[in-house]
Amino acid sequence: MSTFWSWYVTILSLGTIFALTWLIFGTRKGEQKKAADTTTGHVFDGIEEYDNPLPQWWFMLFVGTIIFALGYLVLYPGLGNWKGLLPGYEYLDNEAKTPFASNIQISDGEMRNSGWTGVREWEKEMARAEAQYGPLFAKYAAMPIEQVAQDEQALKMGGRLFASNCSVCHGSDAKGAYGFPNLTDNDWLYGGEADTIKTTIMNGRIAAMPAWKASLGETGIKHVAGYVRSLSGLKNPDGVDVAAGEAIFKTSCAVCHGPDAKGQQMMGAPNLTDHTWLYGSSFAQVQQTLRYGRNGQMPAQADFLGNDKVHLLAAYVYSLSQPTEKPAQP
Ligand code: HEC
Ligand code: HEC
Repeated sequence: MSTFWSWYVTILSLGTIFALTWLIFGTRKGEQKKAADTTTGHVFDGIEEYDNPLPQWWFMLFVGTIIFALGYLVLYPGLGNWKGLLPGYEYLDNEAKTPFASNIQISDGEMRNSGWTGVREWEKEMARAEAQYGPLFAKYAAMPIEQVAQDEQALKMGGRLFASNCSVCHGSDAKGAYGFPNLTDNDWLYGGEADTIKTTIMNGRIAAMPAWKASLGETGIKHVAGYVRSLSGLKNPDGVDVAAGEAIFKTSCAVCHGPDAKGQQMMGAPNLTDHTWLYGSSFAQVQQTLRYGRNGQMPAQADFLGNDKVHLLAAYVYSLSQPTEKPAQP
């Protein structure tokens, strides 16, 4: 803020406070006045108005607000260019476009516009947290994931990381949803070995199930959808030729899903015989999957969370499908 505006704000603020102080004290009536019990001379319907001083508590309330205001202005920034006695606040003057603090925005870690801010406090807090938890993360990061998955404290930390970073897609119970895989069922698109899980979380995954509308046509899609569903024992509508579907499968689909349709984790191609459906098992849904393809995307976390946190998350996810951790569901 320029010197002019700084003084402008300062004089206006302090001037108002001192003027109000003068008003309070200047118009105060002493105790002797009270004893005199004079009236103002105003009479309303026979009711006279006494000219008594303010009650003491009321007067002190005014004094209290003035002391508070002055204390606040001394401790916190805001009075012109005064920094305040409390640490952690500073004035950002990157563009100095406006005379008053406004529109503090942070994007790409850059400060735009100008104004008083306490964001550095947040940064310091993050640094403090890093100093406190960093060594703990590092300790777990040096242990094998399977071992971390046995550690109660590590799982608690992993669970919290999961709740804030993963549950939005995989659900707070990690049981997934339509299009988002269940992480507790020991049925894996990419593999459930501890290191594979970590690779998945670090680098992300993009599934590549091609669209078949153009090459197979509606009839081909109908038959092969029927065949895939028959592998799970599902009943197909009339007019579906499962044998024709099987023939299509062998030529077009087996390369990814395997000749027995049990899937290939290398390609992220799911097992189509296990009654677990990411995109639904109804005849209409399976046909839709085939017509337009599917490209589920697991976002990479390496740059975002970093190795140590992902290590904990991998241990947490790994623990969810370990039989010792969870008794088998009926
Ligand atoms: C934006 C939504 C989204 C978020 C956030 C997300 N995931 Fe995923 N995740 C997916 C999708 C979609 C897939 C399936 C990808 C596919 O279809 O091939 C997936 C797959 C996975 C898999 C592989 C499952 C398998 O069967 O092999 C793991 C493990 C996983 N996610 C863990 C995590 C963890 C841990 C986090 C938190 C850091 C997380 N995900 C955050 C959407 C998300
Ligand atoms: C290039 C490899 C590839 C080929 C070829 C391929 N798929 Fe897929 N398929 C995938 C992948 C990868 C997924 C997982 C998509 C996802 O997670 O988003 C998938 C998913 C599916 C699903 C969804 C399963 C579910 O749980 O909802 C069905 C059904 C399916 N494929 C059937 C077929 C059929 C039938 C063919 C042949 C016409 C075929 N796929 C050919 C890779 C392939």
